[in-house]
Amino acid sequence: MLPLPCAELHLHIEGTLEPHLIFELAGRNGISLPYADAADLAARYAFSDLQSFLDLYYAGMTVLRTEQDFEDMTRAYLRRASAAGVRHAEIMMDPQAHLARGVALETCVNGVAAALATSEAEFGISTALIAAFLRDRPAAEALGVLRELIAIDAPIIGIGLDSAEVGYPPSLFTEVYDLARNAGLKCVAHAGEEGPPAYIREALDILRVDRIDHGIRCLEDDALVERLVADRVPLTVCPLSNVRLRAVDTLADHPLPQMLARGLNVSVNSDDPAYFGGYLDDNVQALEAVFGLGPDALAMLAANSFRSAFLQDDRRTALLAEVDSWLVAVRQSGVS
Ligand code: HPA
Ligand code: ZN
Repeated sequence: MLPLPCAELHLHIEGTLEPHLIFELAGRNGISLPYADAADLAARYAFSDLQSFLDLYYAGMTVLRTEQDFEDMTRAYLRRASAAGVRHAEIMMDPQAHLARGVALETCVNGVAAALATSEAEFGISTALIAAFLRDRPAAEALGVLRELIAIDAPIIGIGLDSAEVGYPPSLFTEVYDLARNAGLKCVAHAGEEGPPAYIREALDILRVDRIDHGIRCLEDDALVERLVADRVPLTVCPLSNVRLRAVDTLADHPLPQMLARGLNVSVNSDDPAYFGGYLDDNVQALEAVFGLGPDALAMLAANSFRSAFLQDDRRTALLAEVDSWLVAVRQSGVS
C-alpha cells in the first residue's frame, strides 16, 4: 500500500507522547510515575468521554521539562508521520498546560520549534505551529499568554482553542481571537466535538475562524451544514478519536461518509495518536476497511487537507500534484 500523501491539520503534539516515551522522559527527569510500566499506562487508555481522556493527557505531559524533551517528542511524531504519508503538518501545542506547572514559555516553544526547523530536510514534512488555548481556563490568562507569544516573536502561524468544550463557548474568547487576527495570525477552534452546533456558529461568527476542528455535530443543524458547504469551511475530522472518546459508538457509526455526501470540506486527522489507537495512516486504513472508501474518495480527502492548509501556493500546488500521482499509481497497481 502506497501511503496517501496528506496534510495533518489537527494534531496536538502533547497527544503524540507514547507511553514508552513518557517512561523514558520520566526516567531522564527523575520523575516517578504512578504506573508499573508503559503497558500498565496504555491499559488505562479506555476513555468514557473527552474529560476522562484530558485527565490522562495532562498527567502524561508532566514528564516534559526541558527543551530537549519537547524536541524529542516532536521529532518522534515527525518520524512516525512521515511513514504515515504526512507531507505537511500544522501542529498544535498547549502552552498554558506547561506554564501552569512551571515550565517557561520559551522552553516549550523552542523545543518544539527546534524539531520543526529540521523537519523538511529530515522527513520531507513542511510544518507550522499553532498555539492552542485551554477553554476551561480563564480567557484573561489566554490573552496574557498570546501577548507573551507575540512579544517573544514565537514562530506560530495561528491560534486554536481546545480542552473541555461543553460549558465553554467560543464567545468567551472573542478578545483573544481579535488580538490574534490583528497580529496576522490564522484562527482555528475546536467546536462541535462534544459541544452543540451553536458553538460552531459562534466560532465562525464571533471568532471568525479559518477552520473548525472536529465539527461533526454540524449534522444536527441543516442550515449550518448548508453554510459550511457554501463557504467551503474546512472541518478537520478525527475518526479514531471520535470512537475512543465515545462521540460515536463504533467507527461504522461515524458520520464521515454522510459529511462527504453532503459536500462538506472534510479532512482526516489523528488528533492525539498516542492515546487514540493510531496515526494518520491508521485512520485512513480504518476508514477504508469499514466504509470501503476507494482511491477516489481517499484522494479527495487528501486534496481537501492540502487545500485547507495554511500553505504557500507553490507548496500547495506541488502537494496536490502528489495526490494526482498517487491516484495514477494506485489505479495502475490495482491496490490502494
Ligand atoms: N479535544 C479537545 N481538547 C483536546 C483534544 C481533543 O480531542 N486533544 C487535546 N486537547
Ligand atoms: Zn483536538
